[in-house]
Amino acid sequence: MSKQNIYDNEVFFESFKDNRSKDVNFNDCIETPIILSMLPDLHGKKILDIGCGMGQHAKQYSDMGAESVLGIDISENMLKYAKENNSADNISYKRMAMEDIETIDQKFDLITSSLVFDYIEDFEGLMVKIHTLLKEEGKFVFSMSHPIATSWDGVYDRYTRTETGERLYANLRNYNKEGLRKVKWAVDGYECYHRTVATIINALIKAGFTLEECRESNISDDMREKYPDVFGGTIHRPDFIFFRCRKGK
Ligand SMILES: C[S@@+](CC[C@H](N)C(=O)[O-])C[C@H]1O[C@@H](n2cnc3c(N)ncnc32)[C@H](O)[C@@H]1O
Repeated sequence: MSKQNIYDNEVFFESFKDNRSKDVNFNDCIETPIILSMLPDLHGKKILDIGCGMGQHAKQYSDMGAESVLGIDISENMLKYAKENNSADNISYKRMAMEDIETIDQKFDLITSSLVFDYIEDFEGLMVKIHTLLKEEGKFVFSMSHPIATSWDGVYDRYTRTETGERLYANLRNYNKEGLRKVKWAVDGYECYHRTVATIINALIKAGFTLEECRESNISDDMREKYPDVFGGTIHRPDFIFFRCRKGK
């Protein structure tokens, strides 16, 4: 099974880091407020953050009262940045692929993951491993790219536009064709996996989770009007999907 590590490609990493550190970006303005609003009280909780990247969320969870946060990621570049910029006494970072989390020998009150599951080939298998790593009644809160977004195969523009480039509507193509997508995103040959909403939900149910909440990303009209080049497309489709699940009935 392939494990892509595109964040250790220097061109991709620099491009991601530039975008992620802009004041106005999709992570801070869209993903973060939604995932934080879906979390339980973190006081005294042992947390595993899968695909912790540069550690922004691990630091937020630590600041919100978590007992401990273990952040795992496959990328050396991302972990180096996390250790240098988002450290705390109760945070540990470890280089590990999400495909290997069954080797972790502790259980967690909460498992989180932000925008990482786009890269997993065996989503169903990963959900079972996460369920096993949770304590009874533990929570699992995650975001991933919305299937309407991952459906894109790079052949046509994501949007149909006016002659001046204004986004008229989002294009949807090959939604029902699941599997690997290889597209150009900062570099040629960027790989992610597309699966339908039903496939995601059924994998969660099959692993034994109780679904508590599902959200789709959106942003305020004010932000769309203020930053039309960045957020103009968000009126037409959600970029991210979010779930909060529980281990147990
Ligand atoms: C879009 S970034 C998100 C980072 C962070 N969660 C955030 O919200 O800022 C995706 C992260 O997933 C990590 N990743 C990709 N494939 C992985 C794998 N197989 N195992 C663990 N981490 C992986 C990447 O290295 C990268 O740090």
